[in-house]
Amino acid sequence: MSMGWQVYVLVLVIFGILSNWVLLRWTTRYEITHKPEQGETTGHVWDEDLREYNKPLPRWWLRLFQLTIIFSIGYLILYPGSGVYEGVLGWSQAQQYAEQVEQAEQKYAPIFAAYAEQSPQQLMANNDAMSAGFNLFGNHCAQCHGSGGRGAVGFPNLTDDDWQWGGEHEQILNSIMNGRNGVMPGWATPLGGDKGVTNVAHYVRSLSGLEHDAEAAAAGQQQFGMFCAACHGAEGKGNPMLGAPNLTDDTWLYRATLDSIKHTIANGRNNQMPAFADTLGADKVKLLAAYVQSLSASTAAADSAANSTATADAASAAQLAVQ
Ligand code: HEC
Ligand code: HEC
Repeated sequence: MSMGWQVYVLVLVIFGILSNWVLLRWTTRYEITHKPEQGETTGHVWDEDLREYNKPLPRWWLRLFQLTIIFSIGYLILYPGSGVYEGVLGWSQAQQYAEQVEQAEQKYAPIFAAYAEQSPQQLMANNDAMSAGFNLFGNHCAQCHGSGGRGAVGFPNLTDDDWQWGGEHEQILNSIMNGRNGVMPGWATPLGGDKGVTNVAHYVRSLSGLEHDAEAAAAGQQQFGMFCAACHGAEGKGNPMLGAPNLTDDTWLYRATLDSIKHTIANGRNNQMPAFADTLGADKVKLLAAYVQSLSASTAAADSAANSTATADAASAAQLAVQ
């Protein structure tokens, strides 16, 4: 708070207390000097026979008002509330929050430490661990990856079995601990402008069996080998070391439209997943890695259940398992 605001608050507080006190004094004086006769009315009459009597406020009622003034002064001595002055107790909201976080850490750290002893498979089979993982995911990951982990344009879907940076436990752990930065340079100039970019984009769509112009794709194939294969592989199957996505599986980080693919090729992409080693610590990240693995495992289980039994019941059970 700047000095100006502190003074503003201080003036308001003093003015508030003083004006209450003056008002109270004034009304009690009024009562003493205008001591009404017993039974005297103010002269106001409603509905012909409803009269307003002029009776003083009860003493105990006035005392309550005086008490609240004394209470407010006591409160402002103990707690921060009058702007500049911080209060005898030295209490602050931020400090209270920090203490509560600290207490929660102390309470829950052993639980996460115990989970960290277990293998990813054990964790995935442990319902309590997975529901703790669900909560962590909701607090720290859902804003980007969605509450179900299904992602959005530019934010990978974590429930499919298609991994940009690798789907082994260690690789997922690494993604969360240290973050990831997927960088692809733009290729508009080397490809000779829009025509070259369009040709390669048609070739990329052909890799996933999407509708494409065969002639343009054939022209793009050669350029793909020259400019793209170094990262995406000669067959376009990607490289998890570089975070270069598999371009043959019809799973897309960005959109699959010709325009979106052209945009990626012409301008490149620079995408960032933040690191969580410092914010969450190794124990919680390990639990999260297992939770993320469980998302794609349950999708795979649901898919095979839906395929093996073609009944509507099995399909909806599979849907439930996914959620
Ligand atoms: C600020 C947004 C953001 C938050 C928060 C975030 N992520 Fe990510 N995450 C991303 C982006 C963007 C990528 C893709 C990075 C790239 O393209 O290289 C990514 C990638 C990943 C990957 C790699 C996926 C793959 O296919 O290899 C995993 C695993 C992951 N995130 C898990 C998590 C978990 C668990 C959390 C919560 C602790 C989390 N993310 C929080 C944005 C975020
Ligand atoms: C230096 C390595 C590198 C080269 C060379 C490269 N890419 Fe990429 N590409 C990447 C990375 C990394 C990503 C992921 C970007 C991200 O995380 O946002 C990517 C993403 C893409 C995507 C988006 C995929 C999706 O799922 O939405 C397309 C399409 C693509 N590249 C095509 C190409 C083509 C075509 C070329 C050649 C003209 C090329 N790339 C050259 C590294 C590369």
